[in-house]
Amino acid sequence: MKTLTLLTTLLLPLAGAAAAQDREAMLERGEYLVETIAGCGNCHTPHLPDGSLDPEMALAGAFVIEEPVFRAFAPNITPDVETGIGDWTEDEIVRALRDGVRPDGRVLGPPMSFAWYRDISDTDAYAIAAYLKTVPAIRNEVELSTFQIPLPGYGPPVENVPDVPRDDIIAYGEYLAGPVGHCMDCHTTYVAGVIDMDQLGRGGNVYPRVFGFEWATVSANITPHEDGIGNWTDEEIKRAITDGIGREGQELRPAMPFGLYQGITEEDLDAIVAYLRSIPPLSAAPAPVEEEEDE
Ligand code: HEC
Ligand code: HEC
Repeated sequence: MKTLTLLTTLLLPLAGAAAAQDREAMLERGEYLVETIAGCGNCHTPHLPDGSLDPEMALAGAFVIEEPVFRAFAPNITPDVETGIGDWTEDEIVRALRDGVRPDGRVLGPPMSFAWYRDISDTDAYAIAAYLKTVPAIRNEVELSTFQIPLPGYGPPVENVPDVPRDDIIAYGEYLAGPVGHCMDCHTTYVAGVIDMDQLGRGGNVYPRVFGFEWATVSANITPHEDGIGNWTDEEIKRAITDGIGREGQELRPAMPFGLYQGITEEDLDAIVAYLRSIPPLSAAPAPVEEEEDE
């Protein structure tokens, strides 16, 4: 008995220290994802007139986009209790992220990429939720989104999603460019408002005055076709992602969140590039049809 008690008293503080270390690693992972590749701030932080993110209002909510069938605002996801998600548990945040359902049962709408986020691993989803609990609380009331389309939900509740092994560089790149970074959501062609996975990476989607910008952008073809990034070097692709500089040295324009992508690690960039080079090459998408302006 004596030895057991001694062991317990010796081991308990050790277990406590290990748990604290795990929590620390989890928060670091969450910070990395939210502040770089996952690009949550691209929608949840207001943009300044030059297209960069307002550092004073990080994750405090913002206008996202006005489409014919909806007008979307990204809510305040800082821990402010009244205007943010301060009283949500980490489980509730994970459920919103992967299932698209709020604690009050309301189904969340586009353009947040729930169809992709469903495949975020448990480790990463909980890391994101844990990190969100630690960002500075900002009081900011955000308008509610309005949808003139039904929001039936995104499928059965997400159960357990295992980690994607990093030594499988193409699979890990696919995980980063899909579920985590949703690069492939912007860069896969939408037909009549529905993503067409047969045109993976082909681009051609128009982002008109998204985030209140005065300009529109069209997502690029990032398949390994010569119309896409087939003739680009790895360095040119990485520079486009992290610095927003095109192949000819020209400045690319947001909606793509280059400012956040600057923090993506070299290892993750290598994985993304390897994955992009592995997808089927597709010629340029047909010229986008401009929506008519209401006068
Ligand atoms: C493309 C834009 C976009 C991106 C990127 C995005 N979100 Fe959202 N998010 C939204 C919109 C819009 C809503 C509200 C939808 C609605 O009103 O039904 C939302 C809702 C939420 C909610 C529910 C909040 C509430 O009060 O209802 C949470 C939590 C959330 N997002 C977290 C995240 C996290 C974490 C990330 C990054 C991994 C992220 N979002 C990335 C646009 C985005
Ligand atoms: C919110 C939508 C959006 C997201 C998310 C996004 N992109 Fe983009 N991307 C664009 C748009 C729009 C352009 C074109 C910008 C321009 O022409 O000025 C672009 C341009 C590019 C280019 C330059 C290609 C060229 O021909 O000029 C590359 C490479 C690229 N994106 C890769 C990625 C990768 C990899 C990710 C994820 C880490 C990503 N994008 C996430 C919208 C997005």
